[in-house]
Amino acid sequence: MPTPPTLFANTASAPHDGHYIGLMSGTSLDGVDGVLARFSPAGPQDRPVQVQAYASCAMPTALRAELLALNSRHGHDELHRAALAANALSGLYAQVVQQLLTDSAMHPAQIHAIGAHGQTVRHQPGLHDGCGYTLQLLNPALLAERSGITVVADVRSRDVAAGGQGAPLVPAFHQQVFAPRHGVGLVLNIGGIANVSVLHPAGSPHTVTGWDCGPGNALIDAWCQRHTGQPYDADGAWAASGCVLPALLEQLLREPFLQQPPPKSTGRDLFHTAWLGQQLHGFTTAAPQDVQATLTAFTAQACADSVRHCADPARTLLVCGGGALNARLMAELQQRLPQLQVLSTASQGLPPLQVEAAAFAWLARQCMLGLPGNLPAVTGAAGPRVLGAIYPA
Ligand SMILES: Nc1ncnc2c1ncn2[C@@H]1O[C@H](COP(=O)(O)OP(=O)(O)OP(=O)(O)O)[C@@H](O)[C@H]1O
Ligand SMILES: [Mg+2]
Repeated sequence: MPTPPTLFANTASAPHDGHYIGLMSGTSLDGVDGVLARFSPAGPQDRPVQVQAYASCAMPTALRAELLALNSRHGHDELHRAALAANALSGLYAQVVQQLLTDSAMHPAQIHAIGAHGQTVRHQPGLHDGCGYTLQLLNPALLAERSGITVVADVRSRDVAAGGQGAPLVPAFHQQVFAPRHGVGLVLNIGGIANVSVLHPAGSPHTVTGWDCGPGNALIDAWCQRHTGQPYDADGAWAASGCVLPALLEQLLREPFLQQPPPKSTGRDLFHTAWLGQQLHGFTTAAPQDVQATLTAFTAQACADSVRHCADPARTLLVCGGGALNARLMAELQQRLPQLQVLSTASQGLPPLQVEAAAFAWLARQCMLGLPGNLPAVTGAAGPRVLGAIYPA
């Protein structure tokens, strides 16, 4: 097989520079985040990507319930239901695309491609001697048809086929955008699951690494929904009203995934509500707000433990994903990492809910340019691979 060009090849004069859309609907199942981004490596600004528009769309309750059911293997006729859910999700993606085009006064023909993640309903990369699979529901053909724009989809499968975890894919993009000037840069994405990227100055011989740390907001959201009816704990205020239960925290931290060395990735396949139910067996009389405080501390501790190994020369920890908006979680992280300044990526000009969507715009561009999107040191794949399948406009 021919070796693909290196990941960070100089693409200053590439024919596909210009505008891309990135669409992300992550494990939190909160909705779809989209950005319209301009890539201009040869441009006057330092950063190779400028976000020109951001739009989001909340996940309708019925679709969310169906995606959760498909994720947790509930019900019959899964193939038919999955296809219908993929169509419904593609309709939401198309709405976000339309909003982005309207807000930026652009036409479909001006966009090179959409990078569309889809909704993960299974993530089993390591099954059967490393020949596993990862499944993101989407109907990219329908999205191409509705939007009139080329769609790049199914970006994780090729990495899994090459023996990788298929995740996390964002460290390569984090390196492009947040590479430190000196020392080591750390970016922590707290979505439904949390993942960290360890970055180096541009041109450094050190390898960019990254891995999934464990749960992000998934358990926090599930407990909040069950006891307050709210989809998430706004600003972490409910957690802040409770007290951490040390025995429960200790038990949660015994989860073997947390001790595994990288490369590693996880998802709702592991950190689901049944897992939480098992952990809570001995704590049935605990006050719900104390459990919430403990789950928030659990996410913070799992992230801090992941970061601590590699934090020595680092000064700051940049946090993105919705978890950056949870003040309690950010305070818990800061308390556990006193040697680092814990900051939202907004401090670097890229708001936390835009980072992952921008990464998918970048992945679409990599694919259109025939450049790899994965980092083998991160995912464990046998080598760099061009990621995604192209559905022409
Ligand atoms: N104001 C807020 N206060 C507390 N938590 C928030 C707030 N806004 C968002 N969140 C949390 O962020 C989550 C959504 O984050 P995000 O969209 O980054 O996750 P995701 O969709 O799982 O993404 P990914 O899997 O790509 O990382 C919500 O479910 C919620 O838990
Ligand atoms: Mg989301």
